[in-house]
Amino acid sequence: MEAYRQVKILKNNQLTSDMYEMVVEVADKPEPGQFYMFSNWNGVPYLPRPFSVCDSDEKSLSILYQEVGKGTEIMTGMKPGDTISLLGPLGQGYPLKEGRVALVGGGVGIAPLLYLAKKLQGPVDVYLGFRDEAFFIDRFKEYSNKVEVSTETGSLGHKGFVTELLEDKYEAVYACGNMAMMKAVKEKIHGLLYLSLESHMACGIGACLACAQKTSQGMKTVCKDGPVFESQEVLFDNY
Ligand SMILES: Cc1cc2nc3c(=O)[nH]c(=O)nc-3n(C[C@H](O)[C@H](O)[C@H](O)COP(=O)(O)OP(=O)(O)OC[C@H]3O[C@@H](n4cnc5c(N)ncnc54)[C@H](O)[C@@H]3O)c2cc1C
Ligand code: FES
Repeated sequence: MEAYRQVKILKNNQLTSDMYEMVVEVADKPEPGQFYMFSNWNGVPYLPRPFSVCDSDEKSLSILYQEVGKGTEIMTGMKPGDTISLLGPLGQGYPLKEGRVALVGGGVGIAPLLYLAKKLQGPVDVYLGFRDEAFFIDRFKEYSNKVEVSTETGSLGHKGFVTELLEDKYEAVYACGNMAMMKAVKEKIHGLLYLSLESHMACGIGACLACAQKTSQGMKTVCKDGPVFESQEVLFDNY
């Protein structure tokens, strides 16, 4: 089994009041939609934390992270030159489809979609939804001529939800965000739709079942069977 490795932090920049981009020295070739388990905190919190691949090249790996609790708070204090421990790449990513596709991201859920936009060959329409503070718009514009933005407060772009902008006209749609947003995407899109699920995780490799979820195909682990699932598999009973 692959082990955790210590890697060097190259950048750790604050983007908004609670969003950060961390770049680490990693020469992997992850697939879009895969993730890494990060750990650096010498026992508190005990468990490693999962973060999606936001970008990757021959020398580095980028993640976007939102400060929400103890682990991410510790990460915000890390400096270039410090080391962090990680395991990955892990999980099943987004299958790359041909034809016109759409990417729909909400908040920190835009993270895995940037690397996906980079890897897709055909025309990509991007829909990004934020509560108030938008970020990374220009990075998506490197890969798409159509980047639609919404904010719930109206601070940028359409005032409201990003799903209000989305049209049902694509060969495939890829979405990542909170479950309410992904449910709204599913209600709108009748074609092929891939969703990236979130779950609390402990091992990240299918061993502990902490992330097991009921799907239309039975119980599946988000870390090993996912995090990307076809939308027909995802049950939205509680949303
Ligand atoms: C496959 C996968 C990819 C992810 N990619 C990213 C990413 O690219 N960027 C990013 O910022 N976050 C991502 N997350 C979520 C991230 O792992 C959590 O925000 C992080 O573990 C929080 O750690 P913490 O110690 O700071 O917060 P904690 O103290 O553990 O939690 C703070 C709050 O966040 C909630 N929370 C923590 N983890 C999750 C979770 N997995 N799902 C839902 N709620 C949670 C807790 O219930 C609590 O309310 C991803 C999660 C998964 C499963
Ligand atoms: S986190 Fe252990 S099985 Fe998924």
